Amino acid sequence: KARADFVVVANRLPVDLERFEDGTERWKHSPGGLVTALEPFLRAREGAWVGWPGVADVDVDPFSDGDLHLHPVHLSSTDIRQYYEGFANATLWPLYHDVVAPPVFDRSWWENYRRVNQRFAEAAAEVSAEGATVWVQDYQLQLVPAMLRELRPDLRIGFFLHIPFPPVELFMQLPWRTEIVRGLLGADLVGFHRPGGAQNFLWLARRLAGFEPSRAQVGVRSRPGVVRVGDRTVRVGAFPISIASAELDQLARTKEVQQRAKAIRSELGNPRRIMLGVDRLDYTKGIDVRLNAIHELLADGQITVEDVAMIQVATPSRERVEHYKQMREEIEREVGRINGEFGRVGHPAVHYLHTSVDRKDLAAFYCAADVMVVTPVRDGMNLVAKEYVACRNDLGGSLVLSEFAGAAAELTSAFLVNPHNLDGVKDSLLAALDLDEAEGRRRMRALRRQVLTHDVDRWARSFLEALGTSLVA
Ligand code: UDP
Ligand code: G6P
Repeated sequence: KARADFVVVANRLPVDLERFEDGTERWKHSPGGLVTALEPFLRAREGAWVGWPGVADVDVDPFSDGDLHLHPVHLSSTDIRQYYEGFANATLWPLYHDVVAPPVFDRSWWENYRRVNQRFAEAAAEVSAEGATVWVQDYQLQLVPAMLRELRPDLRIGFFLHIPFPPVELFMQLPWRTEIVRGLLGADLVGFHRPGGAQNFLWLARRLAGFEPSRAQVGVRSRPGVVRVGDRTVRVGAFPISIASAELDQLARTKEVQQRAKAIRSELGNPRRIMLGVDRLDYTKGIDVRLNAIHELLADGQITVEDVAMIQVATPSRERVEHYKQMREEIEREVGRINGEFGRVGHPAVHYLHTSVDRKDLAAFYCAADVMVVTPVRDGMNLVAKEYVACRNDLGGSLVLSEFAGAAAELTSAFLVNPHNLDGVKDSLLAALDLDEAEGRRRMRALRRQVLTHDVDRWARSFLEALGTSLVA
């Protein structure tokens, strides 16, 4: 069996198996920003990808998709319930997102998380060539670096966290906090989106695992923080993720996307302004925040349904997890209420799409939208905000962006809002809707400069360089 020199380990493969009731199945693109960011980079390097194929209780043999070599990891329905829906998405996800929802601490979930992490480590050990670089991804697999090092001390191991790393006092609630910190310290380099996350982790490494960080300063990419672990050195730093900006810019220029954008506008009855939200249906995304703001703006008569159309794409996500179910019900109730109260025949106030949209259609939505509304209460980065900017090569459109998204640190020319301050959100939406054209172009030009020069290739290269691999030479 051929072994790979570059291996990505993530909970999900970049493709997701879908099974229909009649027994047929098809592969589709996996949801979420992790896959968006890593897939183009890995494909260009003929790497291997170890991950779950998206369905419980199926065995799928390794296969190749173009230049990408996929190694499916089997998860049973118990694993899905305890490791994925339980520990990853009902314990870690809410805990790491500022306890927006209360995290559940369940010992059997933790035990299963450990077992599944061991399985991923074994799968990674099996596909990696001697001295290979293995890049472990995200909160579902935080124990893998140490487990993999145990199995394969010859490997160079990187870890990147795609979601926020929480403040120390929140992380300290976790009954298994020491195990998680030790798991991460199995890597040679641990990366976060924001310098604050790296700092929190360094503090915890010293406090919980008894290791001395040799330097308190982190966040400067050329001088990441360093932790000594026995005779090993673990580097810790901030690496803000991004998108394939130039490719998306090109896609947005195609005739097909431009025509589709025009068609969207005319299907909506050519309103003066179109507002757009694109999110996984997740309680961290603040979909409720923007709905509340729109509700009040309509009620106050500051906008009308003839003048402004709102499109909300809400991609189905983690639908069996309790908080996601509740959130969906609340949001759909609110959409119904707004449309019932303010909609006219042919002019609903909110066009709500509970579906996943492909890249081309998404680019068309971005090009059609005058105001992109991104209001998470907490988000590691938020790639949607960057994608909107990359598509607007006409310098049109404005971005309303939450201060609590990682992207806000880079996209400072957006209308930055505090999603907890409803009046502030309303004011920013109005300002963005009525923006003077020259001012809009000035803002968009500045946003584009940032997004086009800081793309995903630069992100991956800077991480791998800090990891000290020859892959980016
Ligand atoms: N996305 C998509 N289709 C959809 C909704 C989202 O392809 O219907 C993509 C979107 O283009 C982006 C990713 O999913 O690349 C979402 O990443 P983001 O960082 O914004 O949020 P996450 O879902 O990772 O929390
Ligand atoms: C976020 C996480 C990813 C995850 C994605 C989709 O982007 O950081 O690790 O893959 O959401 O969520 P899902 O649970 O469907 O994999």
